[in-house]
This record gives sequence, structure tokens and C-alpha cells, in this order.
Amino acid sequence: MKQPVTAVLLGAGGRGFYSYAPYALEHPDELRFVAVAEPDPVRRERFAKTHNIAPENQFTTWEDLLARGQMADVLLNCTQDRMHYPSTMAAIEAGYHILLEKPMAERLEHVVSLVQAAERANRLLQVCHVLRYTNMFATLHDILASGRIGDIITVEHRENVAFWHMAHSFVRGHWRNAELSSPMILAKCCHDLDILYWNMGMPVSKLQSFGSLIYFRPENLPAGATMRCTDGCPVECKYDARRLYLRPELTEWPISAITDDFSPEGRWRALETGPWGRCVWRCDNDVVDTQTVNMEFPNGATMTLFMHGHSYEEQRTMRYDGTRATLRGKFDHTGGVIEIHDHLEQRCEVVDLASGPSGHGGGDFGLMRGFIRAVRGEDRPLTGGRESLESHLMAFAAEESRQNGTVIDMAEYRARAERA
Ligand SMILES: NC(=O)c1ccc[n+]([C@@H]2O[C@H](COP(=O)([O-])OP(=O)(O)OC[C@H]3O[C@@H](n4cnc5c(N)ncnc54)[C@H](O)[C@@H]3O)[C@@H](O)[C@H]2O)c1
Repeated sequence: MKQPVTAVLLGAGGRGFYSYAPYALEHPDELRFVAVAEPDPVRRERFAKTHNIAPENQFTTWEDLLARGQMADVLLNCTQDRMHYPSTMAAIEAGYHILLEKPMAERLEHVVSLVQAAERANRLLQVCHVLRYTNMFATLHDILASGRIGDIITVEHRENVAFWHMAHSFVRGHWRNAELSSPMILAKCCHDLDILYWNMGMPVSKLQSFGSLIYFRPENLPAGATMRCTDGCPVECKYDARRLYLRPELTEWPISAITDDFSPEGRWRALETGPWGRCVWRCDNDVVDTQTVNMEFPNGATMTLFMHGHSYEEQRTMRYDGTRATLRGKFDHTGGVIEIHDHLEQRCEVVDLASGPSGHGGGDFGLMRGFIRAVRGEDRPLTGGRESLESHLMAFAAEESRQNGTVIDMAEYRARAERA
């Protein structure tokens, strides 16, 4: 019988503890954690207890863990964006195969360095582009690859971020400020750009982007609004943190991001003292709330990605118009639906796709399964570092275009990034 792959975890927060590590509990024959690095004592102990980690293998920082040398087959890096580069570089040097959260790093030269270093060391560097592992996007990809809609002429893909999720992550939360984390087009849409690149089967030739922060600015502050919602703010407001976080029926994310104490008192304390209780017009946010990316492919096909944070619900929608058929799709936490409208037969086929049993429509566990198979040499990694580099290049190019008002020649941009 095969032995389980052994793993160490950097960062036992939202992604590390809740999204990926439960895979080891459900599949102990495939994966076993043997060490953890996490500075927050509550999170560290919670992980150690759940996964039965020996006291000498519980570390406060990733530096402490990696100072021990290689302790397992693989390393999962679920730290925050700005920690990815130094910790992953050190992990490659230590000899680990790595599962790395997206974005790989917040600077393009660091992303390229990581890909090149993993290739030189012959280590697996798999990136958590979880959408490729969902029923929805795997089926969409297969339909497009089958030629069912013919040659793709034009694509519209929308990442409709719900208004409350925008406030939670990109106004109040971890990804609100590009200098502290990464630009939103990288943080949120490297997933979407990865799917678009995968589906088109070729890299983009030209790219241009527009966007800005329109709404979450101090000049839109309603009269009478207080610094924090918990200061007794009298304004009726859809972003009121008391409405968003105190509902007892909410017991997972996004509550798990603001506190590890889910009691009413714990939640209130988190809102009174932490970033998620702040008025959305009084934050240190600077990332956009709307951005479009306009792309052209070598064969003339065109594509537009819309990203914005003002949707009534969290959903991705898409439309592919081809020479034989038009495909429309919608993906949300409940699963997905694809319609194929055949031009000649004037017929519409509807494909309903249930969500898998883990987060991101089943993508979180699908990714873990794929990673274990890749480490065991049973399959090629679907989202290896080199494959994932392209979506990151597209995101960085979009940000450069948005800021400078330029059209980016992607062949030249790619060559420049690889040389740097
Ligand atoms: N794949 C996806 O769909 C997806 C979704 C959300 C977030 N992410 C990415 O996952 C990563 C983690 O996000 P999260 O929501 O879990 O964040 P988080 O803040 O909940 O978790 C990060 C953890 O790292 C810990 N940490 C801080 N300093 C450390 C150190 N020196 N050594 C070890 N650990 C340290 C923190 O205490 C925290 O518990 C981010 O890069 C984020 O962009 C990916």
C-alpha cells in the first residue's frame, strides 16, 4: 500500500486550516501533516490539535520551520501574498515540492524568479488556481476543446464580486491596498485570466486595461457616518458591519477571517478593534472597484474581462461566441450552468453542474487531489508554475496598462519579464 504524502504547512489561517488541510482528515491514506508554522497561538494550537502535530514540530514563523531543513515531502504555503516570495524561495532551496497560494508573489520579477528556481531545482511548484479543478470550469474547458462551438471569435467573462465581498476583502480587508498586498486584478482575477488563457489554448498578443476606484472614497462619506459602524452609526447602509458580521447563522467565512472567536462578544470585539468594523468610506484602501481588460489573440480573436465589486450576488458569468455555436455560462457557490446555443440547428442544450463537496465549487479539494497525484508522479500538474505564470503576466500587464494608459505588446512584455 502507498504511504501518505507527508506535508508541512506555512500559515494556518483561512486557506491553510479551513480550505486545504481538511483534505488530510478525509484522505489520511493520501496526505498527513507533520509540522506547522503559524505565529497566532490560537491558530497554531488549533491546527496542531486537529492534525496531531508533535510539540517540537510546531513553529512560530516560516523561517523557524525552514531552518530545520526538509521535514516532509511537500510544503503548503498559505501565508499572505507578500510572504510568498521569500518563504517559497527558501522552501525550494530546502528541497520541498510546493503548493503555493495565488498570487505567486506581488512583484512580477519575483514570480518569474520562483518559476525559474523551481525549474532549476526540479521541484514541483503548483499554484492554487482552484477554478480549473471545478466541475464547471473543467466541463467548460472540455466543451470548448471538443470544437463544439467552432473557432472562438470573441469572449466576454465577468467576475461579479458581490458588494459585501468587495467591502470585506478589498475595502476593509487584506487586499484593500496594493502596497500592502497586491493590485485587485492580480489578487482576484489571476484565477479568471488563468481560465481564459487555458480555454483559448494560446497566449494573448495585445492587452489594454481601464479601471479605477470610483465609489469607496472619502468624498462619498454619508452625512453623520461614524468612524466605525460599532460607534452607533445612524446611517442606513448596506455595508454596515453589524448587518454583515453579527448574523448568528453565519458561522464560516467571512466570519472566520475577522475572528477565531465566533461568539457574539468575540465578533463585536473584532469589529470594535479590527479593520472590518471601519466605515467603508474611511479606510486606507486604494485598489480599484472596477476594471476591464481588453485582449487580442494572434488569430484575431478578442476577449474582455470585466471585474467589479458592485454585484447583487457573487458570480462569474461568461459568453463565448464561436463559428458554430454560442456558449453562455454562470458559476457561483452552488455550482454552474452552461447553455450551448447551436447556430445551425437553432437548438439550446443546457448542462447543469453541481458544486463539489469543498470550497470554490469543489475546486479546493480537486486541487489537493491533483497536487497529490502530481507529487506521486501519477499525473501532470494542471496548474504548475510555468503554466500559471501566464495569468500573472496578464494581470501585471493589465495593471501597467491601467496606470500608464498604454497597449501592451505581450510578446515583448513576456521576454522582458523573463530576462529581468
Ligand atoms: N486560491 C484562492 O482562491 C484563494 C482565496 C483566498 C485567499 N487566497 C490567498 O491565500 C493566501 C492566504 O490567505 P488567507 O485568507 O488564508 O489569509 P489568512 O491571513 O487567514 O492566513 C495567513 C496566515 O499566515 C499566518 N502568518 C503570518 N505571518 C507568518 C509567518 N511569518 N510564518 C507563518 N505564517 C504566518 C497568519 O497568522 C495567518 O494565520 C493569500 O495569499 C491569499 O491571497 C487564495
